[in-house]
Amino acid sequence: MSDNRVAADQGGTASHDAPDTSRRDFLTYATAATGAVGAVFSAVPFLASWSPSERARALGAPVEVDVSKIEPGQMVTLTWRKQAIYVVHRTSDMVAKLPGIDGQLTDPGSAASTQPDYATNANRALREQYLVVVGHCTHLGCLPKARFELTQPDLGADWPGGFFCPCHGSKFDMAGRVFNGSPASTNLVIPPYSFSNDSTLVIGKDDVAQGAA
Ligand code: FES
Repeated sequence: MSDNRVAADQGGTASHDAPDTSRRDFLTYATAATGAVGAVFSAVPFLASWSPSERARALGAPVEVDVSKIEPGQMVTLTWRKQAIYVVHRTSDMVAKLPGIDGQLTDPGSAASTQPDYATNANRALREQYLVVVGHCTHLGCLPKARFELTQPDLGADWPGGFFCPCHGSKFDMAGRVFNGSPASTNLVIPPYSFSNDSTLVIGKDDVAQGAA
């Protein structure tokens, strides 16, 4: 396992953002990448003197996640390039609901939203069971809360599960697509990512094998 790799059973602490499901469902991981980059800054004070590879690492090294440790229905939160990244292991029910709610969404096809080409499908994902999304609201950048349970009286009787931004009320579905009537006008951003093998998600790098296992 590389220095940047995080797994659901390693070093995690329960997120303080845990919404309305059990704390164990929402884990926050600080990646070793931050420390590694900090060490480089201490040793070499002038960025201009670095090699191209050192500069690339300072901008944010890829982060690996062992998705085999994330149970269906769980979400983990980690940091990449100073952004919160949400990784959700969607259940088959969550995936099945996605095509049926297009009429409730502002940008169901993600035409006006930001994601890699390989995430423009209905699931917005390389593998339908895993949502990988930047966890900052596209309105003003707050952190939307996971609201995966279908029984959410404050979100409406037909709430299909997703994310709710408490700052100004934007709602997003289980693919990070924004609902009509939200202050946010575009879907949550999908970062570049890939899978280097069946269980290893690499965030920040999409030039390795992306096999849809
Ligand atoms: S920042 Fe999310 S709704 Fe305003």
